[in-house]
Amino acid sequence: MGDINSVGIVGSGIMGSGLAELAATSGYDVIVRSRTRAGADAVVAGLTKGLDKQVSKERITADERDAVLARVIATDHLGKLAECDLVIESVVEDLAVKKELFGELEQIVKPSGILATNTSTLPVIELAMVTQRPDQVCGIHFFNPAPMMRLVEVIKPITASDDTIKSALAFATTCGKDAVEVVDRAGFVVNALLFPYLNNAVRMYEQSTATMDDIDTAMRGGCNFPMGPFALLDLVGLDTSLAILDALYDEFRDSNYAAVSTLRRKVAAGQLGRKTGRGFYQY
Ligand SMILES: NC(=O)c1ccc[n+]([C@@H]2O[C@H](COP(=O)([O-])OP(=O)(O)OC[C@H]3O[C@@H](n4cnc5c(N)ncnc54)[C@H](O)[C@@H]3O)[C@@H](O)[C@H]2O)c1
Repeated sequence: MGDINSVGIVGSGIMGSGLAELAATSGYDVIVRSRTRAGADAVVAGLTKGLDKQVSKERITADERDAVLARVIATDHLGKLAECDLVIESVVEDLAVKKELFGELEQIVKPSGILATNTSTLPVIELAMVTQRPDQVCGIHFFNPAPMMRLVEVIKPITASDDTIKSALAFATTCGKDAVEVVDRAGFVVNALLFPYLNNAVRMYEQSTATMDDIDTAMRGGCNFPMGPFALLDLVGLDTSLAILDALYDEFRDSNYAAVSTLRRKVAAGQLGRKTGRGFYQY
C-alpha cells in the first residue's frame, strides 16, 4: 500500500463538498462524484465561490485559488475513481445505500486503494465485509464544516490492517487535523456523547421547560458552546441526526438514544435544517 496522492470523494452534500475542498486545499488531487451532473457542477461552483471570497479577503492569492481548482475534478461517473489511492464515501447515512456503494467501489477502485467511510455512527465492519479487501477499509470521520473543524476520528473495524489505519491517520494529519483512533462502536467518541445531549434538548423543549431560543442561549452562555443544541441540529441536518440516533439506539438500547418524536416528525415533514431552509429555525 503506497502513499496517498489522489483522493476520491463519493457524495456531494454538506460533507462531500466540504471534504473535496479540504483535500484539494491540502494538496491532494481530488475526484468528487455526485449522482448527477448538476450536483457535480454545484460542488465546483461552491468551491470556486468560497475560494474567490478568500482571494478577496487576501487570505490566499489568485494563483493559489487556481492551483486548488486545477486539482479538483467533479464527475457523475463512479468509474472515474478507479485510480484513487483513497476513496471516502460520504453519502446519506443509510447502511443499505452505503453497503451497495461499497460493493460497487470494490469492483471499480484499484486493488491497492483504501476505501473509507465518513459515517457518523454506522458499523464500519458491515461495509468492510461487502468488499474483498476488508483489511483496507476503515472510517475517517470528519466534522462539519470539514474544512474548519479540527477533529477527525479514524475508526478501526476489527478487520482493518495497521497499515490502513496508519495511512488514514497520516491523511488526516496532512489535512491539518487532530486525529484520534477509535474502535468501531456506534457513535465513536463524539456522537456517542453528543447525541444524548441533543436528543434531550429536544425533549426539554417538548416538555416546555424553556423555549428553543432560551435553551440555545442557556447552552451557549452556560457552557461556552459556540452554538446551542437546536442550531447544531439544524447545521448537522435533522435527517442525519435522526439516522445517528437510530443507529445509536440500535446498538446500545439506551433510552437517551431513542429519538424524540418532534425530531422524527420534522424529518417526515422534510424540515431537515439549514440544507432545506427550515429545521428548528427558519433560514
Ligand atoms: N452533517 C454532518 O454534520 C455530518 C458530520 C460528519 C459526518 N457526516 C456523515 O456524512 C455523510 C453525508 O452526510 P451529509 O451531511 O453530507 O448529508 P447530505 O444530506 O448533505 O448529503 C447526502 C449525499 O448523499 C447523496 N445520496 C442520497 N441518497 C443516495 C443514494 N441512494 N445513493 C447515493 N448517494 C445518495 C445525496 O445526493 C448527497 O450528495 C453521512 O454518512 C453523515 O452521517 C455528517
